[in-house]
Amino acid sequence: MTDNNNNRIIIFDTTLRDGEQSPGATMTPEEKVMIAQALDQMGVDVIEAGFARASDGDFNAISNIAKKVKKATVCSLARAIKADIQAAADAIKAAPKQRIHTFISTSPLHMKHKLNMEPEAVLEKVTESVSFARNLCDDVEWSAEDATRTDHDFLYACVEAAINAGARTINLPDTVGYTIPSEYARLIQLVKEHVPNSDKAIFSVHCHNDLGLAVANSLSAVDAGARQVECTINGLGERAGNAAMEEVVMALRTRNDILPYETGIDTTHITRLSKLVSTVTGFAVQNNKAIVGANAFAHESGIHQDGMLKHKGTYEIMTPDSVGLHASELVLGKLSGRHAFKNKLEELGLELGDNAFEDAFVRFKALADKKKHLYDEDIIALIDNSAMTEKQVNKFVSLKVVCGSEGDPEVNLTLQIDGQEQQATASGTGPVDALFSAIKQIVPHGGHLKLYQVHAVTGGTDAQAEVTVRLEKEDKVVTGHGCDTDTLVASAKAYLNAVNRLLTLGATNK
Ligand code: KIV
Ligand code: ZN
Repeated sequence: MTDNNNNRIIIFDTTLRDGEQSPGATMTPEEKVMIAQALDQMGVDVIEAGFARASDGDFNAISNIAKKVKKATVCSLARAIKADIQAAADAIKAAPKQRIHTFISTSPLHMKHKLNMEPEAVLEKVTESVSFARNLCDDVEWSAEDATRTDHDFLYACVEAAINAGARTINLPDTVGYTIPSEYARLIQLVKEHVPNSDKAIFSVHCHNDLGLAVANSLSAVDAGARQVECTINGLGERAGNAAMEEVVMALRTRNDILPYETGIDTTHITRLSKLVSTVTGFAVQNNKAIVGANAFAHESGIHQDGMLKHKGTYEIMTPDSVGLHASELVLGKLSGRHAFKNKLEELGLELGDNAFEDAFVRFKALADKKKHLYDEDIIALIDNSAMTEKQVNKFVSLKVVCGSEGDPEVNLTLQIDGQEQQATASGTGPVDALFSAIKQIVPHGGHLKLYQVHAVTGGTDAQAEVTVRLEKEDKVVTGHGCDTDTLVASAKAYLNAVNRLLTLGATNK
């Protein structure tokens, strides 16, 4: 029996599964582990680590996550197919807490055109798939895909069957982002009222943002009795994305007077997670995005600034500190030693093994030599970026660039390929164009540039540049990262990182 009336909301993060389904948002297995560990530290209850049967890569990423996550339940998605469910169970088996999430479409449109199945056959599949999953795992979640466009009586029958077969969590997704808050709340209430065994399951919501209502719909469903919210960092996800976790959690916290629910999230991790996911995926966060946008806590107009000086509450409903956004403070310099560096990492919640710490310290010293003032953001970028770019087959060595308003820019680049240094010179319409041509000369790869993005880690002209490059070749899309105080060096590193990833995926050198 499950207590649906308590006020604890289970946060189910699907950044690594639904989030990764955003076109172009592919993440490497190492990056997925990094994000999963950060979500675990943040206090997420359930991490949907992927769809185990999608590919060997997905399976391995989920099993690596299962080995690393300490507190959260690790979950894998599975269609209502035995091989999918078995793969899910196998992938999560190293996790201390495991969940299988199986789903099937229940709306007339999906059953007819996508599944080509009669409702009776779908209902049988619900029982069959959930029972099979329950034999492999105690914690089973069942989702009625396209629930918000499903006939209510049929939905009640499916939910009852899933609970009878052993599902502990019932998810009613708004798969196409079609519903509105009042209608969704009513759906949750109706299902709870009409399904005789509804008290034996926790109700979950999973909202897509096609009409910009994903967060509002999720909150409305919570008020109607849902106790699990499925969401993603930065609202990443299919099409317009999923409900943004940071918005759901901060709305529950800030309006606790009328939304008296608790989550287990340590909200001070929000800013770091948002930056990490944005860097890894290359999906920039819009400046005016709630909670995590660059302007979310900025006060521009004179009247607002005046109000803020008199009392912060005039224009601020939550503090930047509460989401882990601190004013850039000078933290370390080139005289800081191992001890200070270690303390800083601990303070930032960054856990490194001994070898990784030594590597990071060497890179920190090199950065401190180049950049006088080092801030928290610099340290975070240094650690996150090196985790994303480790194990490079081809390495950056050096770069000389001549450019300006006279003549074509020229670059002279040296890379290390299989341990041997190779040089190329190239010109182009701009220095970045010339640089990428030089890399192509040394490492021909045939990938097409889909994204080139530069982001300054801190303010100031000596800021490190964090560059993201996305390359596409045939059906493969990769994202590369590079960070340096010199924007062109960062660009070279990011482009080379993307090329290395293409080569690792087995894309041919054409
Ligand atoms: O949007 C959706 O319906 C889903 C399900 C697989 C839960 O992502
Ligand atoms: Zn979804």
